[in-house]
Amino acid sequence: MLFSAHNVGGGYGAIHIVKDVSFDLDTGETLAVLGRNGMGKTTLLRTLVGLADRFAGEVRVDERPQPPRNPRAFARLGITYVPDDRGVFARLTVAENIRLARLSAYAKSELDVYQLFPALEELADQPAGTLSGGQQQQLAIARALATGPRLLIVDELSQGLQPSIVQDLTQALLTATHESGLALILVDQNPELAMRICQRVIVMQRGEVVAAGTTTELGAGANFLDLLVV
Ligand SMILES: Nc1ncnc2c1ncn2[C@@H]1O[C@H](COP(=O)(O)OP(=O)(O)OP(=O)(O)O)[C@@H](O)[C@H]1O
Ligand SMILES: [Mg+2]
Repeated sequence: MLFSAHNVGGGYGAIHIVKDVSFDLDTGETLAVLGRNGMGKTTLLRTLVGLADRFAGEVRVDERPQPPRNPRAFARLGITYVPDDRGVFARLTVAENIRLARLSAYAKSELDVYQLFPALEELADQPAGTLSGGQQQQLAIARALATGPRLLIVDELSQGLQPSIVQDLTQALLTATHESGLALILVDQNPELAMRICQRVIVMQRGEVVAAGTTTELGAGANFLDLLVV
């Protein structure tokens, strides 16, 4: 198994937010994490990759338990996290951002990120800070893919972006997961989009998983949308 969470609890210091989350993810598998605002999706991702405090449970990579609060360990194992604020280097150009990602790569990526996002090639010499939100998100995903990850974890792929950009991002993730065996954990406010990209879903409510299954199973369930609509 590439990545697994076993009864994970996490939060910030004494504030416990996420409780008892378990799932497995193998090479090429894709998981959407859905839930309304403030239900703990970001905290779960941050706990999984060692950026928030894990107070219970275990996270394993290649069946090996990982220490909490050690994000570098995950990067070294080929697990790349794209935060909801995208985390590009604003003062560096697009090309420099991508080159840096390649320098710290887990593996040489088979994917040509400029082919996935042709718009970035035209913007190569521009500082990332001058890009639009959509272009920055393309760059954030391009950077992440340039690290040659085995597992990509993306918080809020489509929020606030125009449909044509969302379409490009979706296509890039579908290509990466289908053609290079990339595993993916995706948080998005748009359940239709997340379920178009992912095979499986967990739904969070107040820090706990309240529904889990394949996209087809859950999408057909009568109560599914009630868990997601405000
Ligand atoms: N650094 C922090 N310290 C303490 N509490 C926090 C911190 N960050 C988030 N929280 C709280 O944790 C809970 C879950 O927040 P989280 O950001 O994980 O939810 P989310 O599902 O990602 O929400 P959104 O859809 O708005 O992104 C919220 O009640 C939030 O106020
Ligand atoms: Mg969030």
